[in-house]
Amino acid sequence: MPLEIVVGAQWGDEGKGRIVDLLAEGAEIVARFNGGDNAGHTVTVGEHTFKLHLVPSGIIHPHTLAVLGSGVVINPLTLMEEIEMLRRRGVEVTPQRLKLSHAAHLITPGHRALDRAQEASRGRAMLGTTGRGIGPAYTDKTSRRGLRLQDLLDLAGFEDKLRVHLHQTNDWLTHIYQAEPLDVERLAAEYTGAASLIIPYINDVGMLLDNALQSNRRVLAEGAQGSLLDLDHGTYPYVTSSYTTAAGALIGLGLGVHPVERVIGVTKCFQTRVGSGPFPTEVSGAQAERLRGTGANPWDEYGTTTGRPRRVGWLDAVLLRYAVRINGLSELIVTKLDVLSGLEKVYICSAYRSAGREYAHLPMGPADLTPFEPVLEELPGWQEDIRAARRWEDLPAAAQNFVQRIAQLSGTPVRQVSVGPERSQIVDVLVG
Ligand code: IMP
Repeated sequence: MPLEIVVGAQWGDEGKGRIVDLLAEGAEIVARFNGGDNAGHTVTVGEHTFKLHLVPSGIIHPHTLAVLGSGVVINPLTLMEEIEMLRRRGVEVTPQRLKLSHAAHLITPGHRALDRAQEASRGRAMLGTTGRGIGPAYTDKTSRRGLRLQDLLDLAGFEDKLRVHLHQTNDWLTHIYQAEPLDVERLAAEYTGAASLIIPYINDVGMLLDNALQSNRRVLAEGAQGSLLDLDHGTYPYVTSSYTTAAGALIGLGLGVHPVERVIGVTKCFQTRVGSGPFPTEVSGAQAERLRGTGANPWDEYGTTTGRPRRVGWLDAVLLRYAVRINGLSELIVTKLDVLSGLEKVYICSAYRSAGREYAHLPMGPADLTPFEPVLEELPGWQEDIRAARRWEDLPAAAQNFVQRIAQLSGTPVRQVSVGPERSQIVDVLVG
């Protein structure tokens, strides 16, 4: 029963969308298991660059069935916009091709308003959320007062529940956050109308996936965000509100552990993060500008969802080893190797130093990384443009050496490296 799980090994934006698009070629079903429209997956196919937030990246292949599992939080308004955008660009998204779990929770305008009000009230301690209502939607889920897709099957009852939710949201907005209240009557009618459009897509996706796996059809589980943003195992409290790690795929799709065949971690060959939180290998000034790019290219380091410039730094192998452990990664795919071309030297953080001691592993998870200095290993860079490389032998020795060092330091084989955003710009790694 072949289930492959793809997760981000860093703080998100590793290029998972592009890798899922690649792996989806051999899969029949591509299933998102966590997060919501806070995600931003960029996929380049020929002339087209698709920026997806909610629909699984695998949908771009005409043969795939796309699924959003119960672990996902769904804003029906952005979902319908995304479906429209895909249709306009020739990707047909019908209820036959996209299935939404009846147990997934809805994101409402109330959740978005609360997300913004909570961030504003945090002042300098803000988390830097995407403002998409993710935290408040998951909070309602765990508080057992959330709205699920299943509730839409009785529309009149749904509108009543939504009114209760919006009135409660207004209490919080006005009394706790001194924010403006929402117009309950207008939003209840508008939102119910818009949400009713997703009814034809609702399904028991756990059953559907199990049936597919029982008959040996390949399923690809697509994670959003990255391991270090996992609610339990990330850099808490600077995390998202879902389970971004491999175990989250099973909970978020309603599957057991038996079908798992591969757990693939995607990592950039450097490190980035959007939003607040610790980042030991972060660089600034000219070095940061070089790694980030100007924003002129779709692959430069600016948030797909918010447009914010990403914080950038050198690859952190201590955190990568941690990601390997918490996900049980069987292999790595390293992205954006081409971005480092032209640098005299490249660096990897091989250990942390604190109070005269070196640490190869995190002594107590990644929540507080402030005491640590990165120990940076310097490696020779390469000057060649590697975007046309398609075979391992096409890569300069220094680039090969860098990839091998990532495999050694992470203790995990690197299967492929990407050398550009196009589907074809991928190289199979022969050693490591
Ligand atoms: P939230 O998920 O909007 O609540 O944001 C919580 C944290 O996760 C913030 O630091 C966000 O910038 C970060 N985050 C959420 N989604 C993504 C993503 O897809 N890529 C990178 N960072 C993300």
